[in-house]
Amino acid sequence: MTGLQSVDESTVILAIETSCDETAAAVVMGGTDVLSNVVSSQIDLHARFGGVVPEIASRAHVDILPAVIEQAISEAGIDPTRIDAVAATHGPGLIGALLVGVSAAKALAFTWGVPYVGVNHLEAHLYAGLLEDDELEFPLVVLLVSGGHTMLIDMRAIGRYSVLGRTIDDAAGEAFDKVARFLGLGYPGGPAVDKIALDGNAQAIEFPRAMLNEGLDFSFSGLKTSVINYVRKHPDVSTADVAASFQRAVVDVLVAKSVRAARSVDARGLVLGGGVAANSLLRAEFAAASADMGIHCSLPSRAMCTDNAAMIGSAAWYRLASDGSTALDTGAFPNLRLRTTDVAGVPEESVP
Ligand code: KG4
Ligand code: ZN
Repeated sequence: MTGLQSVDESTVILAIETSCDETAAAVVMGGTDVLSNVVSSQIDLHARFGGVVPEIASRAHVDILPAVIEQAISEAGIDPTRIDAVAATHGPGLIGALLVGVSAAKALAFTWGVPYVGVNHLEAHLYAGLLEDDELEFPLVVLLVSGGHTMLIDMRAIGRYSVLGRTIDDAAGEAFDKVARFLGLGYPGGPAVDKIALDGNAQAIEFPRAMLNEGLDFSFSGLKTSVINYVRKHPDVSTADVAASFQRAVVDVLVAKSVRAARSVDARGLVLGGGVAANSLLRAEFAAASADMGIHCSLPSRAMCTDNAAMIGSAAWYRLASDGSTALDTGAFPNLRLRTTDVAGVPEESVP
């Protein structure tokens, strides 16, 4: 490992996140002590297109990242010479966007003579829960719900995960975004549906709960089609009722499967992660279900649920400790998967 002898509580990591439409940098010490966490959202740039435009995202990252990094270092109140390693999300995500953060991190690591650490964005979302909750005990079941992913993960220990279930089509956040777009609620869809649903009747329309009683996988594309068909047939329906009924259908399935997953592995805790974890109904139902089961529930703050670099700095610390630095000739990986392990903790697939 270049420039770093050991990884411990005093190891300071500068972390960068540019996998999608948030430009973020953070300074994290010892894997859990967040010294700064700066996030600059590009939502305004993409809103008029109704979704993230990859080319605009990459260019915006190039423009804003230097200032975001400077702010993260200055808010951490440290001198750059104190930084022991530089980390960046190297997948999954938009390739052009990822390359901006990866290139910046490598350049800084090379210049400062410290290790570079490439981080899996999905793994980082798992650490976001641990960053804010020191009462968590393994085994945990994490429901990771974002714009690109919907997964139930059995987390046996740090670095030991297996995927219990995942979506077979759309991600939960994607369903929120597509339904919101159809209803004319704007982008990003999740927060807009969440807000208008407060004024609606969640029992008004009985939308399907796909695969509710089958295993731990999810399917959301049929629900989206049901919403579209229903509104076309009933053009005068209240948008708030549609939003509330749709949200209820998504949350019912997410919570029912989380409970089933927690029971199947005898989990001691349930953790929410990913952008959809900001949803108010999901948070309330997830907490209620955990209480019913008598197990610990961890609901990271909204800032920690959505994309940020503090979670990248945390995951990087654990990766650096277990695997050492990432070679500077390692690229970016738009389709990177979570590195899972078998029951004995042996990695099931090789990734960079
Ligand atoms: O994790 P994230 O910030 O980015 C990805 O890695 O995808 O998640 C973004 C997703 C979007 O689909 C957005 O609509 C959804 O999270 N989201 C929500 C809420 N806030 C964000 N979905 C439902 N309710 C919310 N309050
Ligand atoms: Zn994310």
